[in-house]
Amino acid sequence: MRADILILGADELLTLDKQVGFSPVRGKDMGKPVIVTDGAVAIEGDRIVACGSTNEVLEDAEIHPGTTIIDASGKLVLPGFVDAHTHSCFVGTREDEFELRNSGVSYMEIARRGGGINRSVEFVRQATFEELLNATLSHLDIMLEHGTTTVEVKSGYGLSVESEMKMLEVIKEADRLHPVDVVPTFLGAHEVPPEFAGRRKEYLDLVISEMLPEVKRRSLARFVDIFCEEGVFDIDDSRRYLKSAKGLGFGLKLHADEMVSLGGAELAVEVGAISADHLVAISNSGIEALASSNTIPVLLPGTTFFLGLSNHAPARRLIEAGAPVAIATDFNPGSNFCPSMPMMLTLACVNLKMTVAEAITAATINAAFAIGRGDEIGSITVGKKADILVLALSNHRMLPYRYGVNPVLKVIKSGKVVVDFEKA
Ligand code: NIG
Ligand code: FE
Repeated sequence: MRADILILGADELLTLDKQVGFSPVRGKDMGKPVIVTDGAVAIEGDRIVACGSTNEVLEDAEIHPGTTIIDASGKLVLPGFVDAHTHSCFVGTREDEFELRNSGVSYMEIARRGGGINRSVEFVRQATFEELLNATLSHLDIMLEHGTTTVEVKSGYGLSVESEMKMLEVIKEADRLHPVDVVPTFLGAHEVPPEFAGRRKEYLDLVISEMLPEVKRRSLARFVDIFCEEGVFDIDDSRRYLKSAKGLGFGLKLHADEMVSLGGAELAVEVGAISADHLVAISNSGIEALASSNTIPVLLPGTTFFLGLSNHAPARRLIEAGAPVAIATDFNPGSNFCPSMPMMLTLACVNLKMTVAEAITAATINAAFAIGRGDEIGSITVGKKADILVLALSNHRMLPYRYGVNPVLKVIKSGKVVVDFEKA
């Protein structure tokens, strides 16, 4: 088979390909990724055409004058990270809120005082399409440099028909312009905007009757999401919204049980959501419900860390119950201003007590399934898209251990070397 790129001699190649590579990895299996020593991958066009030991791959590979050979000796090779939950489309920062929180004021209290999501809404409403696009593209640049090859991006800082559509159009254009693949999610139900203060139901009526059909008509989102939380949207609001969205054919996601145990995880399973995210306050019945469903728990260890909270999502209990846990950054200007997946791996190990192997599984194959792309990305599997990282580390255990610095040496996205720090 013809090889346009050959990666050879990796100290460790983690394929994340559990037998088939086409289903999420559950429970105990999360801790047992396939590790090939002296590993190699062959790429033709934008696809993976072979992977295995260097000898095996070299036997079949047809080298041509244009073949790029990457020597990965001393390096770790694994699939590109999939960041399955972000709010990367925004302008403006809220560093004052970070300082307030560190002096003891809570995230929800800051929101009640007029800060929080609605501050970013003000910035985004005022921004032009170009300003918002440039900011989004620069966020994607940093993510790509840190190994993220596919990212889910939510709207939710517009909260009016016009501004939500502006955000979704920006997200669409960012996907077109940037090498990172962007999966768009509509989050019109992120917060109640100031002009609807005290009229939550009326705002949700607008989201359901005007925004959802418009997003559908313009094909601007694959998924919809809602912030189901005490003081924001309750369980009945969330059920009503998600059922309407389902009727229009959208995939469903929820910010569920982040601070208060409202039964968000149970609702996610009831409505057949593709993922339930946050889950710091998930109940026992929520854990059981998720474990026996196809809904993926997406845990966001950067958020609990950055909010300075001492309780974290119960990753161990979810994994032991047999759930296919994913992790993501939740990158946003309020509750987590860190776009780095390697950093999330460290936090997943230290604070969620996940093993290194589990955390890597959660950041790749399971994350791909959390955004409906598991058939295309998330593992190094013949036929999947060639989204591959070469890291300047000799084994996978080094990845969360050597933290706070960027381990990426090269990023291959859709079969092209798009980041190369060896050349830089
Ligand atoms: O997932 N929880 C709600 N939404 C975001 C925070 C967004 C913001 O503060 O701007 C989150 O943490
Ligand atoms: Fe979020």
